[in-house]
Amino acid sequence: MTSDLSTSATTLPAGAAAPLTTTLTSSDAVRPGPGDPDIGAPYGYPGELAATLIDEDAVRSKVAQLAAAVAADHRHEQPPLLVCVLKGAVMFVTDFARSLPIPAELEFMAVSSYGSATSSSGVVRILKDLDRDITGRRVVIVEDIIDSGLTLSWLHKNLASRGPAAIDIVALLRKPAAVKVDVDVRYVGFDIPTDFVVGYGLDFNERYRDLPFVGLLGEHMYR
Ligand code: IMP
Ligand code: MG
Repeated sequence: MTSDLSTSATTLPAGAAAPLTTTLTSSDAVRPGPGDPDIGAPYGYPGELAATLIDEDAVRSKVAQLAAAVAADHRHEQPPLLVCVLKGAVMFVTDFARSLPIPAELEFMAVSSYGSATSSSGVVRILKDLDRDITGRRVVIVEDIIDSGLTLSWLHKNLASRGPAAIDIVALLRKPAAVKVDVDVRYVGFDIPTDFVVGYGLDFNERYRDLPFVGLLGEHMYR
């Protein structure tokens, strides 16, 4: 997948910016062959992960790229208010905020969407609300992944009703189903296949959030 990134960059005309969104397919997943080290073992998850989809370096450079893009659009007097959607976006927001070349303020919100462990229903409940009034503020919603987009669509409407000056959305990952969403997600890191992914904040039953890369869970773990 790293080769994909460099390919798209080198085929661009000189001076052109690399596209913000990198599209990954199932063939970009790196599956360890027989005799290769177990990718989950160093983090305490031996035998549980099938593949690396986005390695640590690719995550890091994409986060920096997203931060640069957002910063370029947010050179205003008042710093943007980053709204992190707990818990999945926590790794992303901390790296993102540290990569941002402009000041930013941090807010956290926790929502739960009723559904199974691997899909959401769009029925959302606020578990933890923002601590502050966002009236007149430029809000940047920081999301880990947009799957159906139902959670985000609900969140966008909810925050919009509080009178912010603007709402932008940055998502590290997006799945194909998200094309159904009626929300404009301005900054997307990776378009990924429909496979269930874990790591870098994303969980399956609260596990794997602590992995530094995005990987595919072994099918035997959830089927
Ligand atoms: P949506 O409402 O269907 O867009 O669901 C979004 C939420 O579902 C995300 O914020 C994640 O918490 C969770 N989710 C969706 N797909 C995945 C996945 O592949 N791995 C882990 N969590 C996921
Ligand atoms: Mg989430």
